[in-house]
Amino acid sequence: MKATIRYLAGIAGPSGFGSNSTAEQVTQQYSSSMPPSHLTALITGASSGIGAETARVLAMRGVRVVIGARDLKKAMEVKENILKQSPNSEVVLLEIDLSSFASVHRFCSEFLALQLPLNILINNAGMFSPTLEFSEEKIEMTFATNYLGHFLLTEMLLEKMIETAEKTGIQGRIINVSSMIHGWVNRDAFLFNDMLNGTNYNGTRAYAHSKLAKLLHAKEMAKQLKARNANVTINAVHPGIVKTGIMRAHKSLITDSLFFIASKLLKSISQVFSGCINGVLCCSEPTNRRSEWEILLRL
Ligand SMILES: NC(=O)c1ccc[n+]([C@@H]2O[C@H](COP(=O)([O-])OP(=O)(O)OC[C@H]3O[C@@H](n4cnc5c(N)ncnc54)[C@H](OP(=O)(O)O)[C@@H]3O)[C@@H](O)[C@H]2O)c1
Repeated sequence: MKATIRYLAGIAGPSGFGSNSTAEQVTQQYSSSMPPSHLTALITGASSGIGAETARVLAMRGVRVVIGARDLKKAMEVKENILKQSPNSEVVLLEIDLSSFASVHRFCSEFLALQLPLNILINNAGMFSPTLEFSEEKIEMTFATNYLGHFLLTEMLLEKMIETAEKTGIQGRIINVSSMIHGWVNRDAFLFNDMLNGTNYNGTRAYAHSKLAKLLHAKEMAKQLKARNANVTINAVHPGIVKTGIMRAHKSLITDSLFFIASKLLKSISQVFSGCINGVLCCSEPTNRRSEWEILLRL
């Protein structure tokens, strides 16, 4: 409760930043302590919203950015905007549909063929479906996109990240963009049959399950990375409440009411990005400030 009030009021947390701080402000402080031109970041779903803003600010700080997007036309617009602002930045676009295992495989083959290093992986793409839909592999669409696609992506790129960290001595960072909504999952978590029951389908529940899965993924993978003594960390992030495309799809009586109230307090994309800040902060903050996994709710 105290944390929510602090967030809504924009009061700075232990890092010195609050929800009114911009990603640019946060990275300005850290850019002097990291060697950005040596970093490569891969961001999924950077064709809009939080991902696009994260890509813009990382590129602005000299990080090579790889955008994984299912809509390359939209991603191209993001790239053009980035290049307008930061003409020397390097932005690579690759197609990925996270709801499809085949597409994730194709994406990883294409990315690995580029022989780029990989320091930062931001598992950001996300969707919400009000009705029951299935992926190519006949899995509930929200779970497939938000969690399974990112799980597979991370598995397929992990060796590259570990290898990059070993070669460069720079700690690799994986950021799972989750949501506070993971806490809405009740004690009977992961009732897959209910999730797949067309008459009983609840989009918010499916979304919450996918976000809880992403969080548990971070927790388990952190343990495994530690056991391997790998110089790569993973964190789950709640990006704050931000006016983006995902909100438009998120319609139910409860969420509509909550978002109506929250809309009086929401941060706009151009104004601030508490979500983006969290993600960027995670990537650039000196390593000893964070444990191997943590739900980042506060700045
Ligand atoms: N906004 C908030 O308040 C909030 C709160 C908590 C968590 N989050 C999380 O923050 C992340 C970013 O969301 P956002 O708020 O920035 O929403 P957004 O503007 O709708 O962005 C979502 C991004 O994910 C991409 N995406 C969706 N399905 C995909 C798929 N199958 N394959 C590849 N890309 C796909 C979208 O691509 P298209 O452009 O092609 O649709 C878009 O680029 C999500 O994980 C979301 O759950 C947001």
